[in-house]
Amino acid sequence: MAKSLFIKTYGCQMNVYDSNRMTDILAPLGYEASSTPDGADMVILNTCHIREKAAEKVFSELGRLRFLKEAKQEAGENMILAVAGCVAQAEGDEIVRRAPYVDMVFGPQTYHRLPEMVARASRQAGVVLDTDFPVESKFDHMPNTASVENSTAFLTIQEGCDKFCTFCVVPYTRGTEFSRPVAEVLDEARRLRDAGAREITLLGQNVNAYHGAVAGGSERGPERGPERGLGDLIRDLAEIDGIERLRYTTSYPAEVDDALIEAHRDVPELMPFLHLPVQSGSDRVLSAMNRRHDSGQYRDLVERLRAARPDIGLSSDFIVGFPGETEKDFEQSMDLIRDIGFLQAFSFKYSPRPGTPAASMPNQVEEADKSRRLAALQALLVEQQVQFNKSCIGNDMPVLLEKFGRHDGQLVGRSPYMQAVHVQAPADLLGSIVSLRIDGSGENSLSATAIDTKPSDTTSGAARMMA
Ligand code: SAH
Ligand code: F3S
Repeated sequence: MAKSLFIKTYGCQMNVYDSNRMTDILAPLGYEASSTPDGADMVILNTCHIREKAAEKVFSELGRLRFLKEAKQEAGENMILAVAGCVAQAEGDEIVRRAPYVDMVFGPQTYHRLPEMVARASRQAGVVLDTDFPVESKFDHMPNTASVENSTAFLTIQEGCDKFCTFCVVPYTRGTEFSRPVAEVLDEARRLRDAGAREITLLGQNVNAYHGAVAGGSERGPERGPERGLGDLIRDLAEIDGIERLRYTTSYPAEVDDALIEAHRDVPELMPFLHLPVQSGSDRVLSAMNRRHDSGQYRDLVERLRAARPDIGLSSDFIVGFPGETEKDFEQSMDLIRDIGFLQAFSFKYSPRPGTPAASMPNQVEEADKSRRLAALQALLVEQQVQFNKSCIGNDMPVLLEKFGRHDGQLVGRSPYMQAVHVQAPADLLGSIVSLRIDGSGENSLSATAIDTKPSDTTSGAARMMA
């Protein structure tokens, strides 16, 4: 009999991807995804450590789930309660101590052992704690299932980060950098294509640190064989028939190499949109963040990317109120935004993460200053975003129509720049890339002139964009 599984996902796209994998792994054990924890046979909180008070949110959610678990027990049944992801990795012992009714706590490196853990949890009372970093790749044990939503899919090619930005927990929670072998990535891309994906986003905490082994080489062994970087991998992926759009995220500026820039120049399938976090425009702050790039190098990199691909659009991450940030430092971030121009960006108030170097730096910035700076920075970013969206009006853009819109007869797709595009169009165009005339814009989306038949110029998005 089918058992129901509810997974609550916090945080990044990597976690969304991992939750899908967990669903896939648990399917052979009879678990079917459910949209509610009520009555579920298993509930997994797939947690994220990036945000402020992440752990506290998990504990209060667990407090609520405890009642559901007890109700289930009163009915003579069981609910397996699990905490996965980065909070599990970082605070596993604390979870076991504070929430002893949790059955399983496991970190991102151990998902392939889920079936074994579930078996143990249903056999025995007591918590299964599995947060160490195994030597073997977790991917070796993953079943070969592909999950595709709306013609797009994520594909994790790299995990971990060893850059140790002083504000960031990722190097502690996700461990050192690891790249999947090239052949494995290409195989999974073909499976995703077969399952209907036309656009693939390559994922990694530090995705451009990718250096996957070419057949025969072993990434971990002392006998490191030949490897391919991200630029080369993108060329390989673009060769696969049916994959029409490629993206990658998240990149680390100091590791963008010539091969990657050349891929932007040469590979039409690679979308002209890049999320390239800079964090700050102040060299003093960047150095305190241990970013390994200064603002000049970042500007330079943007120039080289634009020379290679003149229509490339940029997105970024910013932190305001990093310890020691002065008004002058902050103004340098504003200057950098004005000079470069971003299509969109994420911005955060600095939030101390326990155990990271920045958390114990002197000169923590007052909350009120952080709030004021964040508001000013976001206002500027929104202004640029609105301006860019407006500039698209009158243009034809290749749009991958992904899903039904809220209104009758409406479809929603994505432009090369990740803008949502709304259009009245026949449903049989779902999943295709169509050239649309943009006729309206807002802060977060575009609208296009209605189409009623399949246009003859339905074609590869990238090819159209280049034309
Ligand atoms: N390369 C990683 C980045 C993770 S964090 C990945 O994509 O997986 C994403 C963004 O959150 C960072 O670029 C940074 O701008 C912000 N961030 C991380 N730690 C932070 C902190 N302690 N306070 C505020 N913002 C933070
Ligand atoms: Fe974090 Fe810096 Fe790596 S932001 S993920 S330590 S590049």
